[in-house]
Amino acid sequence: MKEGISGKAIYRKDYTAYPWDVNRLDLHFEIGSETTVVRAQMEFQLKDGTKSPQAIVLNGSDLQLVSITLNDRVLSGEEYIIEGETLTIPDAPQNCVLRTEVKIHPASNSALEGLYLSGQFLLTQCEAQGFRKITWFPDRPDVMTTYRVTLEADQSEFPVLLSNGNLVDAGELTGGRHWVRWEDPFPKPTYLFALVAGDLALVEDHFTTRSGRDVVLRIYVEAENLDRCEHAMESLVNAMRWDEERFDLEYDLDIYHIVATNDFNMGAMENKSLNIFNSKYVLARPDTATDADYQGIEGVIGHEYFHNWTGNRVTCQDWFQLTLKEGLTVFRDEEFSADMQSRAVKRIRDVRDLRSRQFPEDDGPMAHPIRPDHYVEINNFYTATVYQKGATIIRMYHTLLGEDGFQKGMKLYFERHDGQAVTCDDFLAAMADANGVNLDRFSLWYSQSGTPQVHVSDHYDAATQRYTLKLKQHTPPTHEQKSKQALVLPFALGLLAANGDELPLQFEAEADAATGTRLLIVEEAEQEFIFINIPEAPVPSLFRDYSAPVKVFFDYSPEQLATLIAHDSDAFVRWDAAQRMAEDAILKQCLAHAQGLEMTLDPSLVRAFKGILSDQQADPALLAEAMTLPDEDYLADQMDVVDVDGIHAARKFIKKGLAVELVSLLTARFAKLNDGQPYQKSATAMARRSLKSICLSYLLETSAGESLAATQLESSDNMTDTLAAIKGLILMDSPLAATALSEFESRWKADALVMDKWFIMQAIKPGRKTVDTVRKLMDHPAFSIQNPNKVRSLIGVFSMLNPTGFHTADGSGYTFHADRVIELDGLNPQIAARMASAFNRWKRYDESRKALMKAELQRIAAVDNLSGDVAEIVNNALR
Ligand code: BES
Ligand code: ZN
Repeated sequence: MKEGISGKAIYRKDYTAYPWDVNRLDLHFEIGSETTVVRAQMEFQLKDGTKSPQAIVLNGSDLQLVSITLNDRVLSGEEYIIEGETLTIPDAPQNCVLRTEVKIHPASNSALEGLYLSGQFLLTQCEAQGFRKITWFPDRPDVMTTYRVTLEADQSEFPVLLSNGNLVDAGELTGGRHWVRWEDPFPKPTYLFALVAGDLALVEDHFTTRSGRDVVLRIYVEAENLDRCEHAMESLVNAMRWDEERFDLEYDLDIYHIVATNDFNMGAMENKSLNIFNSKYVLARPDTATDADYQGIEGVIGHEYFHNWTGNRVTCQDWFQLTLKEGLTVFRDEEFSADMQSRAVKRIRDVRDLRSRQFPEDDGPMAHPIRPDHYVEINNFYTATVYQKGATIIRMYHTLLGEDGFQKGMKLYFERHDGQAVTCDDFLAAMADANGVNLDRFSLWYSQSGTPQVHVSDHYDAATQRYTLKLKQHTPPTHEQKSKQALVLPFALGLLAANGDELPLQFEAEADAATGTRLLIVEEAEQEFIFINIPEAPVPSLFRDYSAPVKVFFDYSPEQLATLIAHDSDAFVRWDAAQRMAEDAILKQCLAHAQGLEMTLDPSLVRAFKGILSDQQADPALLAEAMTLPDEDYLADQMDVVDVDGIHAARKFIKKGLAVELVSLLTARFAKLNDGQPYQKSATAMARRSLKSICLSYLLETSAGESLAATQLESSDNMTDTLAAIKGLILMDSPLAATALSEFESRWKADALVMDKWFIMQAIKPGRKTVDTVRKLMDHPAFSIQNPNKVRSLIGVFSMLNPTGFHTADGSGYTFHADRVIELDGLNPQIAARMASAFNRWKRYDESRKALMKAELQRIAAVDNLSGDVAEIVNNALR
């Protein structure tokens, strides 16, 4: 039975080592779009100390077996067993050579896993378990071997033939065919295998490593995209240099290839020396890509490059350990981007992302620890928890041990485990041993799910000048794990005087006071910290730089928040204080709205935002973050029963109110930023554009906005300004929006990536009519349900980023979406499962919406032959 179809869970505790070493894998591909013939030869050797005889168990899926031989003898049908996705040879000799030949059919592979067709070229995606769709083999990450790959194809149809490692030989054949042979000297698991075959153009550059190795860098794209690779190449060179400087890690081969495809389930993939990227994370030109796209490319190029050490050289023992490579590599890419751009802005964006994507996961039916204990379909566990929360846990090691201690740990990790497939425990042990510390209690972060809540209270005693801070931590139960324990929390603290000065901190036992942030450790369910010689009741600046991934509760007065916003030395705390103030204001008005009361604007919020906007010293990108109101989903998470329309109305009311109050400041700031200078890619220019865009979005709430947006659209020389203007016109329901959209469409209709933006702008428009727009857009020639980027842009954005559209009271959004999940399930189960998760939080809505969503979930669950991917999501949601 297929793992997915049987719906059977796999448990981490059931791990057993594979009894065989595979010493070499020789692959031969006769490439064809309709049919590709794959011949594999592998050398099996029983592991030392394993009792014999042993069976050889291989994985395969949708393979048409042509022949199988063992030590040159053809096996008869009685000598092996194929059952579901496994092929078993019951008792095999201790040393043997297995040969297989299979046929596969790339052109009809719509799941985009294994070997498939994208436009005119063929490519592979093997993580996590796609290799089994290519040939019979132990498809698990702890079986590592060296690959020799020969690709044979028609020369004119497939002039470029790529695989991992070094090109060792090539030649021509009769009938217009040719072949190329690649060898990868590094043993690797199946999930890192890749091949690409087709007619691709390339951009080339070089990088000389610190030790003097010359590395050829090539980015392969379809010919029309050659002028959009510069930024990706620059990002790659920066990433290679950064990893040498910050982590002392050098690249280890002579070639580094990146291939861009429009048809990709994920963002990008780190195959050894042959990364494959969603074109969204490669292609950029100022007129086609926004600043956010540029930053995304830098981050993802970095991420996949950094996997070469954290993932490829040291890989995962099993898929439960996924965060070992992903959490660590996300931490590395976050640090890379922080070093390249603005550290503070990057940190704020990452925290926002964690709160809006990971916190809901912890609070829903798919809650799991960063290292899950079981799964049905591993593809469903490439989650914000494994990735983003995983990265915050790596960040906590860094906070606790410091940069030097952390790097010592990394060094020991590579010394011990280079070339191995290991576990999260091995990583923790390396960190602990390298620093001579005990991290046993810290390990709970790997096994406990849920978002800890920390309730902070304080007391100031003027007579003794003592200040007491009391912290209580508590993690609410998650659906799969009822009882929780106290976690180790790095607690970075500062105290401010009312005038904003930082107060020196001194414990009773200490002789001297120290100014600046103090790193404390919370380990117990309840803990108290007492500071002495505190001259006035201070404002606590809690969890600076977001030192632990927790929800912090403290009853700040508006004045205290204002002090933090205006004066705290920590950019994260300043931003967070502004978010809290805005959140409180919006939720209060939401309540008023629900009670039929008139909404009002709190003057303290206006004062705080006035202060932010008047700050001429601060990085404009930071100000832009501070002025961005919490999004509707984040606000929804703060309510017991989500009031979709109330949140929308209250947020809009506050935004408009601020805009009206601050209109002259906004106009002046916008005018100053709108300096008519030609586009520049620099971080400074991006920062200015980000503040300009947010100012415009406020101004669009006033009568001044429409003409500013129209002028910006007309004079724009870059996609960031263009999109800010059109989005604004759409949101305000301007009569100019329709023209703007149709001009955009006629200019970009042949450009897949830019058309994604055109779909997004329309799918995100609030209100009950959007479901009809989205339904109509599915018939647009640029839309294809087979293409994940299109599905994410239209269907995904509508269902996950447009609350008032999706949650329309009559349930039409739900029905539409469930139909798409069912349609997608037959084509691409991975994408279908991602889409199905839009219903995950159905229990948090009112009775009527709950009933409507539940009915749609049940309708999906009842589909015949539903994939294991979708079944796991909907069954969990219904449970
Ligand atoms: N290894 C993953 C890509 C992957 C995940 C392929 C799951 C197949 C199944 C890659 O390193 C990755 O994590 N990519 C991210 C982007 C990254 C910047 C977080 C992605 O694709 O979303
Ligand atoms: Zn990754």
